[in-house]
Amino acid sequence: MSNFSEAELLHTFKGIPFTTRSSPELLKSLDTFDAREDDVLLVSYPKSGTHWLAGVITKLYTTQVTVTSPIEFGDISRLEELNKLSSKRIIPTHLDYNMLPPNFKNKKCKMIYISRNPKDTAVSMYHYYRDNPNLPTVDTWPAFFELFLKGNVVCGSWFDHFKSWAEHEDEKNILFLFYENMKKDLPKVVKEITLFLSLNINDNDIQDICKKSSFSEMKNDTEKENSDPSHTVCALTSNRKLIFRKGAVGDWKNYFTPKQNIRFQEMFNEKMKLSKM
Ligand code: A3P
Repeated sequence: MSNFSEAELLHTFKGIPFTTRSSPELLKSLDTFDAREDDVLLVSYPKSGTHWLAGVITKLYTTQVTVTSPIEFGDISRLEELNKLSSKRIIPTHLDYNMLPPNFKNKKCKMIYISRNPKDTAVSMYHYYRDNPNLPTVDTWPAFFELFLKGNVVCGSWFDHFKSWAEHEDEKNILFLFYENMKKDLPKVVKEITLFLSLNINDNDIQDICKKSSFSEMKNDTEKENSDPSHTVCALTSNRKLIFRKGAVGDWKNYFTPKQNIRFQEMFNEKMKLSKM
């Protein structure tokens, strides 16, 4: 529940709702952002498993890497801070493909896009909205469902976001991952990530990394940490309990009515009809 009005919390840039934590000046300047060839981008629509993926990836490197907060969060001084980082940068972002700084595309930086069943994403986001004072208040699930379908939520429409990236599925520097596959067989997905990032990690180490990346381990770890919101994957909260909620596949069944499910499915089929993925 938030004490702030929606106008104080959200603004729209190029037709997409952003929180006021992403300053318009920063968003405008992204076009000129200087990418480095060895940057790795972690791309997602919110609530798709970004923290999980970031947790796995940081454990894969033996050299020093820095996971930054999302590139679109903060004010204009953020870009200078990112420029100054001397270590390898792992940069999360919720940006739509078309808004991504062109330099990342020109330099063919490696990008990992994680997506999740949008119905579970919607439910996860509903809880995030409800419990996070930095987001507008939503009273009920049916009210949030309508906002989500219309794309009137932070980062805009799930469908548009996914499509903007899925159109680039054949590009060799972009790896597409699914939350559900990580739940089903994490070692297999981690192996895929190591190959994509050209990291040499043996199977025993992969097993160990997967154990340390389980929902319960990650939840326990972050509850012990004192996190600074400007240096976390989600800069919208310093309350880590909001991020590690349930970590399950199929929670949407506890929320969607049969009618909502049909409407969602129709929208999905319509919006995705041209997508190969
Ligand atoms: P739920 O709200 O459904 O529990 P993001 O990091 O993109 O904000 O996504 C948050 C979602 O990922 C939350 O979903 C959270 O519980 C889930 N998550 C985080 N770490 C996880 C893990 N180690 N295993 C499974 N799910 C995880």
